[in-house]
Amino acid sequence: PVPCSQPVGPDDFTVFAHRGASALAPENTLAAFRRAGAEGAAWVELDVDVIGDGTVVVIHDSSLDRTTNCHGSYYDLTAADLADVDAGSWFTTPDGARPYTGESLPTLQAALEVAGEAGMGVNVELKSCEAGAAACRRLVDGVDALLEAHAERWPSLPVMLSCFNPLLLDRMAKRRPGTPRALLTKDGLLLDTWRSYVEEIGAVAVNPANLTLERGRVEEIRSLGYGVNVWTVNTLERARELSSWGVTGIFTDRVHELGALGRGG
Ligand code: G3P
Ligand code: CA
Repeated sequence: PVPCSQPVGPDDFTVFAHRGASALAPENTLAAFRRAGAEGAAWVELDVDVIGDGTVVVIHDSSLDRTTNCHGSYYDLTAADLADVDAGSWFTTPDGARPYTGESLPTLQAALEVAGEAGMGVNVELKSCEAGAAACRRLVDGVDALLEAHAERWPSLPVMLSCFNPLLLDRMAKRRPGTPRALLTKDGLLLDTWRSYVEEIGAVAVNPANLTLERGRVEEIRSLGYGVNVWTVNTLERARELSSWGVTGIFTDRVHELGALGRGG
């Protein structure tokens, strides 16, 4: 059966601020989410994983190395340890300044608060949970509880879940059947088998990688009634081309330049 409710409807073109306004501020930080709100973003995308005490944190990688001043895995940290983690000092402006030094590694709870205050929808991407099955369960528990509280506090703000791992998405589907889900795909991963998974987990959209995406694939997915939200698209030219193919949304680091497309611009 064709899904009947879509967060990204056939007539919409939704622009997600990818990891926040991540061209202007350090990705997946509260500063990046606030900046996305200030730029008029309708939706923000963020990546989540879980630390040792069950706190859900916002980070893309499975190690702290690239985006913080710390090193190694975070799976054994507790919330108290987060005070030592600087997720902003790695980010330099074109003139070499580091204006975000001291920016914290955010919890999902704090990020949802910023998105709620700014009136933005949130696409929560669950990362792969490389710490094992118990950590995966903690991630599902934590995200479920936080989204429940978020829905009570901001009932009119949309939320979407996404993941490259269909099993994790299926687990979330069972917990939160009313929260729309999208299956992430990339070259060599789920691109040819997407349909069986979205049917199984009741997903409303497929979110494929930009660089290898072909028009025929978009048409195939759209013809079956599913949304297609493409990552990561950073030029107006490509965004307009994808829109002409029937794509329903894009993820961009440059919401300050492409956000207007989602507002009919
Ligand atoms: O959700 C779209 C995109 O964020 C998926 O890839 O690696 O940026 O998390 P990645
Ligand atoms: Ca992501």
